[in-house]
Amino acid sequence: MPVWASVVMAAGKGSRMKSKLPKVLHKLAGKPLIEHVLDAITGLGIERPLVILGHGRELVEEKIGSRVQVVMQAEQLGTGHALMQALPYLKGVDNVLVLSGDQPLLQAETLQALWRLHEAEDSSATVLTAMLHDPCGYGRVIKDKNQLLKIVEEKDATVEERRIQEINTGTYCFKVNALKEALAQIKPQNAQGEYYLTDVFSHFLEKGKKVLTFRTDDPIEAIGINSRRQLAEAEAILKDRILRYWMDEGVTITDPASTFIEAGVKLTQDVTLLPFTMLRGATRIEEDAVIGPHVLLDSCTCHQGCQISHTVARDAVIGPASNVGPFAYLRPGTHLEEKVKVGDFVEIKNSFIGKGSKIPHLSYIGDASVGNSVNIGAGTITCNYDGVSKHSTRIGDQAFIGSNTNLVAPLEIGAGAMTGAGSTVTRNVPDHALVVERSQQVVKENWQNRRKK
Ligand code: UD1
Ligand code: CA
Repeated sequence: MPVWASVVMAAGKGSRMKSKLPKVLHKLAGKPLIEHVLDAITGLGIERPLVILGHGRELVEEKIGSRVQVVMQAEQLGTGHALMQALPYLKGVDNVLVLSGDQPLLQAETLQALWRLHEAEDSSATVLTAMLHDPCGYGRVIKDKNQLLKIVEEKDATVEERRIQEINTGTYCFKVNALKEALAQIKPQNAQGEYYLTDVFSHFLEKGKKVLTFRTDDPIEAIGINSRRQLAEAEAILKDRILRYWMDEGVTITDPASTFIEAGVKLTQDVTLLPFTMLRGATRIEEDAVIGPHVLLDSCTCHQGCQISHTVARDAVIGPASNVGPFAYLRPGTHLEEKVKVGDFVEIKNSFIGKGSKIPHLSYIGDASVGNSVNIGAGTITCNYDGVSKHSTRIGDQAFIGSNTNLVAPLEIGAGAMTGAGSTVTRNVPDHALVVERSQQVVKENWQNRRKK
């Protein structure tokens, strides 16, 4: 079995993005461009691809360093020069798959087909091509049947050559030995004064080596991201791809146009997504959950049968058959157990809410642990911050917190205890006790009539 490696070229600056961020770190469906490419490679079973970095190397390395082997290209002298930097790392490798870090829509199946053809035909090089309506900006492919004759860059092409619609996607398979030999021959003699990787093919042909083209049926895969416009175009394409995938997996999406699902999200069959729903990060949603309308979930886990509407939640767990919203805000560290009710204008942060407990309206619960079957009245506030540190509140099972209670932390409310409406509670309350903290009510009979006289 021939040994394969992969090289991703990503040292360029990406000037047309007009950004302080290296191009390959710009996000598509919530994931940096380069990670889309790396995921496609992982789909082929190639471990730790080589990645050529230059501009913004530290930032990119921080993001992907753990899954790749970084090769430095200090000066960006062209794609040919980029690949030269990788040669010392290709000892003992027979074939190499070469890609660009800015082509996030390439699919693993397409790479696999390219690779199979390359092996089956025992080709020295195989080039992935595509037919584009508007080939502007890409290298054009000149070929005889499947045999490649030449790739000419737009800037070096004649008027005639520019009319060719078949383009070089910038994705290739090479036999490493042949590549080494040819890279040693190329010269920066072209309109851009760069070492073009695409110049290796003339040397292959001089030596009578076989160079094939393989055309993908889906020209979308060829899209390279060079500008923010292309980024938005790719986002729209990928959004559709993701929505169609989940619908095929049994998810109901009532309005695909207003539903956004990032690449890292996992859904289950019989989930329903209502309009204006955005699912981000590592969000997981189980069977029979109904999410939306107007929900933003970022890295949340939503268990079976929960319902969430008009809500923003981040790093939160929503228990089975729990009901959240409308207008709730669940911040990181919120954990709702089974059948919890969180209603309108409730904010919860870093808190555990036990099974069957209810926080139906107008409350702030922070740094709290709430037992099972607790009822929290409207307007209840955990006063968790004294201006210096955060303190926690514990509320026992079946406690009843009266409306408008201030719970001044650190504080423990015992199981089955009750707080009178409007109380500001500052000291612990034992199990089954009632605490009332408010002044006596004064009633002056007939007072208004006397005053008017
Ligand atoms: C390249 C191809 C072109 C093809 C197109 C597909 C060449 C000469 N041309 O053109 O035929 O149609 O891709 O998108 O190869 N890079 C480095 N170091 C460098 C230069 C580039 O790592 O010194 C990286 C870039 O970061 C980028 C990739 O190589 O990820 C491609 O470079 P880019 O300058 O975008 O090439 P194109 O002009 O698009
Ligand atoms: Ca490009």
